[in-house]
Amino acid sequence: MMTRTFAPPRRGRTLRAISLATLAAVVLSTGVAVTSAQAAGSTLQAAAAESGRYFGTAIAANKLSETAYTTIANREFNMVTAENEMKLDATEPNQNQFNFTNGDRIVSWARSNGKQVRGHTLAWHSQQPGWMQNMSGSALRSAMLNHVTQVATHYRGQIHSWDVVNEAFADGSSGARRDSNLQRTGNDWIEAAFRAARAADPNAKLCYNDYNTDNWSHAKTQAVYNMVRDFKSRGVPIDCVGFQAHFNSGNPVPSNYHTTLGNFAALGVDVQITELDIAGSGTSQAEQYRGIVQACLAVSRCTGISVWGVRDSDSWRSGDTPLLFDGNGNKKLAYNYTLDALNAGGTGNPPTGGCTVTVTRAEEWSDRFNVSLAVSGSSAWRVSVQLQGSQSLQNSWNATVSGSTGTLTAVPNGNGNSFGITLYKNGNTNLPTATCSTT
Ligand code: XIL
Repeated sequence: MMTRTFAPPRRGRTLRAISLATLAAVVLSTGVAVTSAQAAGSTLQAAAAESGRYFGTAIAANKLSETAYTTIANREFNMVTAENEMKLDATEPNQNQFNFTNGDRIVSWARSNGKQVRGHTLAWHSQQPGWMQNMSGSALRSAMLNHVTQVATHYRGQIHSWDVVNEAFADGSSGARRDSNLQRTGNDWIEAAFRAARAADPNAKLCYNDYNTDNWSHAKTQAVYNMVRDFKSRGVPIDCVGFQAHFNSGNPVPSNYHTTLGNFAALGVDVQITELDIAGSGTSQAEQYRGIVQACLAVSRCTGISVWGVRDSDSWRSGDTPLLFDGNGNKKLAYNYTLDALNAGGTGNPPTGGCTVTVTRAEEWSDRFNVSLAVSGSSAWRVSVQLQGSQSLQNSWNATVSGSTGTLTAVPNGNGNSFGITLYKNGNTNLPTATCSTT
């Protein structure tokens, strides 16, 4: 059963321009790890931009006056989703009386800080205003289409992607549409909403967005896939599929996630991870974040990742501590793993005849952390490790390592092609970069 085991929604019930030198460094050295300090992004948005992707967050309008919140949001993210402010109940509280005050606050904050905006959401069974909840049939169909048209028109030209329709499929093994007042207006309500959105804002990418659609073998995933394939074959205007990606122990990150993203992308749509949060803590949570980033980076049409909130305390399920910053705004281990995975980029091709080295963060203590390095392509190698800031070497194993600050050099000592180092942070927790050459 694919049910959300956390509380359901409730409310009132371009490739970055890189210099030739940097490019050469990347090509000559590692397939996975970035290879120069210049190439490593020090924020989520900078690291994602290295591969032409965005990194976003949900934003709540009522927190825009909180400096601790906006400081992190502004520094780390370049895509913004209104957490609630563009939903149906917020934007059309009374029929045909639209209220864009809070949605506009978020758009204006985003634009004045150089960020793009995902629109969320034009048609949904949940968070409908009372008047709409009580409607049915052709009156509801017209009201829904009017809502789509009015809201998409208001924000025309300001939205990168719209979640036109949200959560229209049932959980479980049926593969059926979710029952709702909108669904009862006729099975074609979804495509009607997409056509209305396209007419109102021809430049926004139009997405279908849902949860529990991550595991390729699940019926709900297949059902959404079949709808998108049908839409593409009939010319219904759909450009992207959003994967909410709310994970917890009942709905874990699936090992076939890259397959799911890749198969959707192969239909000719962009895919985006739209509301990422992962219940948990420590290494287990961090590794799951890393897996999500790696899955997205493995699919060229996976154009960006958004988390569903800034700090754990901002989360709609704060008890699960599912985000990248703790309640005090400190970076969590999940942040470090996410940043590292973004900086590592997609799996590049190793240079022929040479060697590659991958750099992975391992155990971490308050003053120091371990780094694992794995060489492939040759057993006669020399690895240069560029430490960050004032980091210094404490310990090493399975290779002969010389130097203690700045650049270390490692050569084999008869213990194979994987080795490790322990580094004192000395104020810098960033992962070192490494280059490999054959000897
Ligand atoms: C959530 C918000 O985070 C909460 O503040 C609100 O009370 C309920 O909705 N799927 C979605 C989002 O598409 O809109 C939901 O957001 C989370 C689940």
